[in-house]
Amino acid sequence: MLENRRILLIVAGGIAAVKVPDLIRRLRERGALVRCILTKGGAQFVTPLTLAALSGDKVYQDLFSLTDEAEMGHIRLSREADIVLVAPATADIMAKMVAGQADDLATTALLATDKPVMIAPSMNVMMWTHPATQANLQTLKVREVKVVGPSAGDLACGEVGNGRMAEVPTIIAALSRFFQKSAGQGPLTGFRALVTSGPTHEPIDPVRYIANRSSGKQGHAVAAALAELGANVTLISGPTHEPDPDGVKVTHVETARQMMKACAEAMPAEIVVCAAAVADWSVKGNVQKLKKGVKSPALNLSENPDILATLAKAGPLRPGLVVGFAAETENLIENAQLKRAKKNCDWVVANDVSPGSDTFGGDSKTVHLVTAESVESWPTLRKRAVAERLAERIAAYAERHF
Ligand code: C5P
Repeated sequence: MLENRRILLIVAGGIAAVKVPDLIRRLRERGALVRCILTKGGAQFVTPLTLAALSGDKVYQDLFSLTDEAEMGHIRLSREADIVLVAPATADIMAKMVAGQADDLATTALLATDKPVMIAPSMNVMMWTHPATQANLQTLKVREVKVVGPSAGDLACGEVGNGRMAEVPTIIAALSRFFQKSAGQGPLTGFRALVTSGPTHEPIDPVRYIANRSSGKQGHAVAAALAELGANVTLISGPTHEPDPDGVKVTHVETARQMMKACAEAMPAEIVVCAAAVADWSVKGNVQKLKKGVKSPALNLSENPDILATLAKAGPLRPGLVVGFAAETENLIENAQLKRAKKNCDWVVANDVSPGSDTFGGDSKTVHLVTAESVESWPTLRKRAVAERLAERIAAYAERHF
């Protein structure tokens, strides 16, 4: 994906500039063509000679250099690239990008470019969380600047927190994804994915039904994230207020039995993610509205099919990867492991739905990815981020196993 891609790499003045030589080496190994602009600050951490030797190109530093301008005007420099990558992106250069300042070669190139821009922020945790930086970040995102990282960990200043520049493989993956996407492709291109989402409604009579608190936010986000990675996604959705995700085929159903039927019709698929909160029982009978009387009516319940277990059943048509969700209020991991084995699915995303956890209907949650080999606890993330992370994992799995 990076073969012959032209990357204009702007190296600003942060300690993470020391990772840039490795970044250039890895990019060139993948066939990318790297040209560097080094800011004054950046030159405090890494020398132009190192960057020139590794990139195999001249390193540009000065806006008013006669030789540079004669060789390559700064406007041309900013245009002769497929993407402009700022790594590390300091709080200062982000602020300048927002303000449209152009007081050196790097900021001038950023203002003059007509190409996509990606930044890999790197700074002290207080600088990163400062409202000014966060507001700048939002503005840059609105302007469609792509952002990779930062991650949490030990910072060079001795503090711990969010602000470490994304690791080199993460930056490379983000660039690859960008080029794949712009070519209308992704790591899951060619794979079919089936996702269930939302609650099911089980009618008691023509006007009443049994429901649950599922909002469908998580399942819909998973469908969107898989589609973004190029998968051909069918989403079977129970009744929710979520809009249909872009680029996803959606079938709307109401009951568990309808969901089961729609899933069976959507098969085969290589990837199945069952995020729906399917009702365990449906109500038998009651074609007419129940009337209030002396005696309260008893509901005659019958068990619904288990969609996940049905799709995950061993056999020649079993999808290559089946993922379930487990909402538990106690013994979270243990129950998720039992569920994984019982339903024969490959992974279970376990989340705590005990009172106060805000998982149902909320926007964030803390989940654990339970597989046959391991339990991985993720930090508290927005549901959208949980979906993206899960989709990434699925893509990595597909690459290794399918
Ligand atoms: O309800 P339970 O905890 O068993 O749900 C665990 C997983 O099974 C979820 O992924 C859910 O979507 C799936 N499930 C299903 N059909 C059912 C019940 C649950 O697909 N009838």
